[in-house]
Amino acid sequence: MELRRIDRLPPYVLSVVTDMKAEARRRGEDIIDLGMGNPDLPTPQPIVDKLIEAAQNARNHRYSASRGITKLRLALSGWYERRFAVEIDPDREAIVTIGAKEGIAHLAWVLLGSGDTVLVPEPSYPIHQFSAIFSGAEVNSVPLSHDTADFFADLTQAYERTWPRPRVILVSFPHNPTGHCVELDFFDRLVRFAKDNDVFIIHDFAYAEIAFDGYKPPSILQVPGAKDVAVEFVSLSKSHSMAGWRLGFCAGNARVITGLQRLKSYLDYGVFQPIQIAAIIALNECDDVPPAIAGVYQSRRDVLCDGLDRAGWHVDKPKATMFVWAPIPERFRTIGSLEFSKLLLNEAKVAVSPGNGFGAAGEGFVRFALVENEARIRQAVRGIRKVLET
Ligand SMILES: Cc1ncc(COP(=O)(O)O)c(C=O)c1O
Repeated sequence: MELRRIDRLPPYVLSVVTDMKAEARRRGEDIIDLGMGNPDLPTPQPIVDKLIEAAQNARNHRYSASRGITKLRLALSGWYERRFAVEIDPDREAIVTIGAKEGIAHLAWVLLGSGDTVLVPEPSYPIHQFSAIFSGAEVNSVPLSHDTADFFADLTQAYERTWPRPRVILVSFPHNPTGHCVELDFFDRLVRFAKDNDVFIIHDFAYAEIAFDGYKPPSILQVPGAKDVAVEFVSLSKSHSMAGWRLGFCAGNARVITGLQRLKSYLDYGVFQPIQIAAIIALNECDDVPPAIAGVYQSRRDVLCDGLDRAGWHVDKPKATMFVWAPIPERFRTIGSLEFSKLLLNEAKVAVSPGNGFGAAGEGFVRFALVENEARIRQAVRGIRKVLET
């Protein structure tokens, strides 16, 4: 029997190395896991304490509100105000999601159907492409690299070349996996373009708070009038190390937020209420947490990039995200990113993500996730140095 929506999916390359890593660990090998972007830092204690307290109250064991409890949406609105001087109406312009990933996947259902086209940078975080595929739409990719000079020009050219015209553009800056970053001027131009061409923008802002060396990633909602044509996803997964809690938000265009709310009201009953209550603490009382977490990733970035550099592998330091996007050293480039990742796993005992797991345009790269401590990253560099020297 055909599994209609599943059979259309391309093979999930990222799982190849993940499976090999699990197998090696079962054999008792010490693998340093810089593969999946799964934060290793603990969620701050005040947030955990609030979860425990809220879980003790039977009133919180019932179905919650699918769109999120009012106080949590208010807390998001306060965060936007403090961080970006952006006003978000918590009732009309904000919704809680089960992480950004779930929100993006379901928003694609709201906005797209067969015959529609979406523009998405490639390489990309897999759900950016798969959400469109699940909804039945076609994906048109726009190549993106960490050093792309003018992504806006590339994007608009791709738009002009696509027929029927894309209805949605999905972008995400700071960008996983390439680390590409933009300034507010990019969003300014994008919003104007969207208005002129009647296209809708989804901005995945998962790395809003994970930025380095004084760089402050802009929100698309800072652009006056952005709410007419855009929504933005934010997430507590990385900013507060709450990846397993599954809590994110979508904010912006009221009509689209209402659409997502309607769809989700058929599909889920909301995030477990104690998690939502604890998330209020994260947003209202933990503004010192995201900079501290970003500081840890920044130090790890430096240990990795400086160590690789000393081993003869030059990799640019990203300004943001928890990833390092590394061009495969010349000598190994012909074997491809999957084989090179297998080599690092087998010989250096380091798991990384092959670049082609993020789309064909990621070929020639591997992605390091900064999710082990500095001592382990130094150990990883030692293993990699041996591979490079053989
Ligand atoms: C760009 C991007 N968006 C979304 C997510 C997932 O966010 P969440 O945990 O909120 O679903 C990730 C996780 O790696 C990501 O890299």
